Amino acid sequence: MKIAIVTGASRGIGKSIALNIAKRGVGVILTYNGHSEEGQAVAEEIKKLGGKAVALKFDSSMTNTCNEFANEVKKNLEQYFGSNSFDYLVNNAGISGARGPILETTEEQFDELVNINLKGPYFLTQKLVPLMADGGHIINISSGLTRFSYPNVAVYGSLKCALEGFTRYFAKEFASRKIRANSVAPGAIDTDFGGGKDPMMKKGIAEITALGKIGEAEDVGVFVASLLSDDSRFLNGQRIEVSGGIYI
Ligand SMILES: NC(=O)c1ccc[n+]([C@@H]2O[C@H](COP(=O)([O-])OP(=O)(O)OC[C@H]3O[C@@H](n4cnc5c(N)ncnc54)[C@H](OP(=O)(O)O)[C@@H]3O)[C@@H](O)[C@H]2O)c1
Repeated sequence: MKIAIVTGASRGIGKSIALNIAKRGVGVILTYNGHSEEGQAVAEEIKKLGGKAVALKFDSSMTNTCNEFANEVKKNLEQYFGSNSFDYLVNNAGISGARGPILETTEEQFDELVNINLKGPYFLTQKLVPLMADGGHIINISSGLTRFSYPNVAVYGSLKCALEGFTRYFAKEFASRKIRANSVAPGAIDTDFGGGKDPMMKKGIAEITALGKIGEAEDVGVFVASLLSDDSRFLNGQRIEVSGGIYI
């Protein structure tokens, strides 16, 4: 059985990714941060569907715990999955953080976003890659905001650009182990992210999107699950946008 690790899978896009991966017969180690019950419930849902899953706590802002988390993953791989490696990593966990103009951004706001959205996935990947099987695949969840820009989200958008950069550098450095890395950039998706989206916002997003609607978590989840397998074996170091055609 192939095994995937999905961060931030207690809710939203990550939850959909975890469920869709499991539906394809892949074992899942999913993580939650603040919503432990929701995280455990996703693992239970996968088991009810006949799949294998465990839910572990991971806080992306605490990079000093990445080693400990990797040890926890190792233990679960051996004891629950009977394996000493995993195959896929989806770095999905992220926050929108405080919004505001560049002139008003504080260092605290900047650092919070750097830690959770960039430093976390960077060092988690570093600590987990020794446990990854050769030929594995990493998907980093980016954002449409790396192709177009909006006011008041400069830190968030800049860090997603950096995550896409890291994806390409990783793809180059781990090619000798045939581990691929790609970024998936969702457009506007109807989740709790950034406090959720009200009806007016959804209407506005629908108007600038070719397919005429805001995305659902499932639109991204089913795509990421389909991308992980060897069917995409020659795709490497790329950014793929899943937005229904926003601003095209
Ligand atoms: N929704 C959008 O419009 C949109 C668009 C483009 C890109 N994205 C990206 O898609 C990803 C998922 O977003 P979403 O819309 O699904 O958001 P969401 O519904 O708010 O869910 C966020 C997930 O990340 C986890 N998380 C939050 N802070 C964390 C931390 N410090 N450490 C570890 N996990 C943490 C949450 O866990 P707990 O609930 O357990 O705390 C939750 O599972 C993010 O990387 C986001 O930047 C979203």
